[in-house]
Amino acid sequence: MATILEVCEVRKNYHMGKVVVPALRGVSFDVEKGEFLAIFGPSGGGKSTLLHLMGCLDRPDKGKILIDGSNILKLSDDKLAELRLTKMGFVFQFFNLLPRLTSLRNVELPLTIAGLPEKETSKRANEMLKLVGLEGRMDHRPFELSGGEQQRVAMARALINDPKIVLADEPTGNLDTKTGWEIVELMKKLNKEKGQTFVVVTHDPHIAEAADRIIHLKDGLIEEIKKAPRRNKQ
Ligand SMILES: Nc1ncnc2c1ncn2[C@@H]1O[C@H](COP(=O)(O)OP(=O)(O)O)[C@@H](O)[C@H]1O
Ligand SMILES: [Mg+2]
Repeated sequence: MATILEVCEVRKNYHMGKVVVPALRGVSFDVEKGEFLAIFGPSGGGKSTLLHLMGCLDRPDKGKILIDGSNILKLSDDKLAELRLTKMGFVFQFFNLLPRLTSLRNVELPLTIAGLPEKETSKRANEMLKLVGLEGRMDHRPFELSGGEQQRVAMARALINDPKIVLADEPTGNLDTKTGWEIVELMKKLNKEKGQTFVVVTHDPHIAEAADRIIHLKDGLIEEIKKAPRRNKQ
């Protein structure tokens, strides 16, 4: 399998006045194309920091991150923004939908920003909402939807640009167990059907077990990288 993303000796500190908070203390691993990878570990371990760096939302202090072989640290802010828009999809714990917009408009947004004509954006947003099982919820606003439905809208929005990599930070963290599982199954389905690479951050061991591989992150270091049993691979 080909490598889509490489993280090499990445370090990141936060500065709180005079206090230095080490979030990542030298982390290296590869992500394979089409893989479903979990980044798992206790709160404060550096998971969100790592996901943000992988998604070009922030830059590391030291180390390298390569996406499709190109070093993202060498790219300008404009190029990084373009990379995020064309290659990445993001899903967050609190959904981050725009409250005044309908599901359809929320999902269209990345395409509108990319400058596609409205006819095309609404056709694609329609298809994507159908794919995540929300054909009956196109005109609802976020407050008219359940948590699980809101996360499905967020998923459709993350996938509308047909990104190569989907990065999800605790996507089930704000959902009950059953709804959380439905979101995991949806991600697994999309991963299988569309071959997109998923990197999912979670502190829930059951969710992590659904991945092809689990990176266990603790205190800013990788404790262990574990391959899932073959059943997840088929
Ligand atoms: N913006 C920030 N400013 C200062 N410290 C931060 C900031 N974000 C995270 N941290 C600290 O960095 C460490 C890693 O945080 P984070 O990456 O959010 O971990 P996780 O997502 O695994 O809970 C923690 O000690 C946290 O308190
Ligand atoms: Mg976090």
